[in-house]
Amino acid sequence: MSILKVCRLGHPVLRMESQRVTKEALSSPAIQTLIDNMLETMVDYSGVGLAAPQVHHSLAIAVIESHGPRGDIPLTVLVNPDIRVLDEELLEDWEGCLSIPELRGRVPRWRKLRVDGLDRHANRLEWTAEGFAARVVQHEFDHLMGKVYLDRMRDLKTLTHLSEFQRYWLPEEAPSPSGKRNG
Ligand code: NI
Repeated sequence: MSILKVCRLGHPVLRMESQRVTKEALSSPAIQTLIDNMLETMVDYSGVGLAAPQVHHSLAIAVIESHGPRGDIPLTVLVNPDIRVLDEELLEDWEGCLSIPELRGRVPRWRKLRVDGLDRHANRLEWTAEGFAARVVQHEFDHLMGKVYLDRMRDLKTLTHLSEFQRYWLPEEAPSPSGKRNG
């Protein structure tokens, strides 16, 4: 396994709609290795999610995992996900992105949604995600659609550099030692 380079905002691949993966391609050593490398890269970059376009592959694959004060999300590999909103209430909270380093901003996201897709072994995956998990899913799903969290902000007034975020805006009631807010 190897750690991949994460591309940053400005790279055209981040603005492309990614291609769906056929079951045949998904079972190939190349895609299975890509998934392994995405998982290792997510851990190395201290992210809670990573989408294939962020590592220069315009494919509808994302990995997610979180353990922390904002909630636990088990390790999940999402292939060809579709989402359906179950609760249109919008919750606003801070997000960051590995492709937009050193910045944080407040982003409204739907509270609850349904995810349908495949896992890495092409088994059908059905997931009802709520709260923080729903937020991370929407962030990664957006990457697969060529969007980033900046596109979803109501305005850019809350956009803040990381050190200023930690100094002025980090919620005191739920300190996050690792500061993991990146997808
Ligand atoms: Ni991201």
